[in-house]
Amino acid sequence: MALFNILQFPDPKLRTPAKPVTCVDNTIRQIVEDMFETMYDAPGIGLAATQVNVHKAIIVIDLSKEGQHPLCLINPKLLRSQGTQYEEEGCLSVPGIFEKIERAQEITVQALNQNGDTFTLTAEDLLAVCVLHEMDHLKGKLFVDHLSSIKRQRIRKKLVKARQDD
Ligand code: NI
Repeated sequence: MALFNILQFPDPKLRTPAKPVTCVDNTIRQIVEDMFETMYDAPGIGLAATQVNVHKAIIVIDLSKEGQHPLCLINPKLLRSQGTQYEEEGCLSVPGIFEKIERAQEITVQALNQNGDTFTLTAEDLLAVCVLHEMDHLKGKLFVDHLSSIKRQRIRKKLVKARQDD
């Protein structure tokens, strides 16, 4: 097991679109395990492979933060979405920033699990937000992209400055 380094906004590598996983083998399972470990260590409730510079369509989520409800989605595909919610989001790649974003209230996604089996998940509220947020990462999109460009520039400056001050 190993911890990945998490890329930070505005790192251009976060803009790389992920490629679908063609075969869920032991290499992929090791990446999934290391992603869970990295997420729990951070700690966070979701992590996309894009954030650890692995450009494969893999997401890990655990709303419990403590390993009780690990959820892995490989090659997630949105089948259905309905309603809207407007909740505060944060991101391990955009540390210390929390902003309200509009998302669907309820979604259904299809994905593969760590064994390569297809499953369907219907999620609402925070879990729907989390799945959509992580699926955005796989497209190279960040939650700050949902904000106005003025707000995004302000966040970028703040984070770049915070890193220089470290
Ligand atoms: Ni994120």
